[in-house]
Amino acid sequence: MFRRLGDTGATLTLTVDGKEIRARIGDTVAAAMLAAGIGRFRTTPVSGAARAPYCMMGVCFDCLVTIDGIGSRQACLVPVREGMAIETQQGKREAGR
Ligand code: FES
Repeated sequence: MFRRLGDTGATLTLTVDGKEIRARIGDTVAAAMLAAGIGRFRTTPVSGAARAPYCMMGVCFDCLVTIDGIGSRQACLVPVREGMAIETQQGKREAGR
């Protein structure tokens, strides 16, 4: 569904649910995950419906993921880093996680 408009530049490696993906330096987490073919970022707490990034600018909160152990981070606003560990979120988050 998504493809890059040119694939130049250095890359780095991060994991999503334990699986390694490559990302370009300067990508946001959401852009890297979408480019890797990941379209399910979280499920809603009430119905369990799947969600994926919608606005890509920090407004809709449909891109929430756990990044390096910290839950409910907006993937569209966080730039990738080498070795980052990302987990998709299922249902509600516990306070302090
Ligand atoms: S995609 Fe809307 S807040 Fe991240």
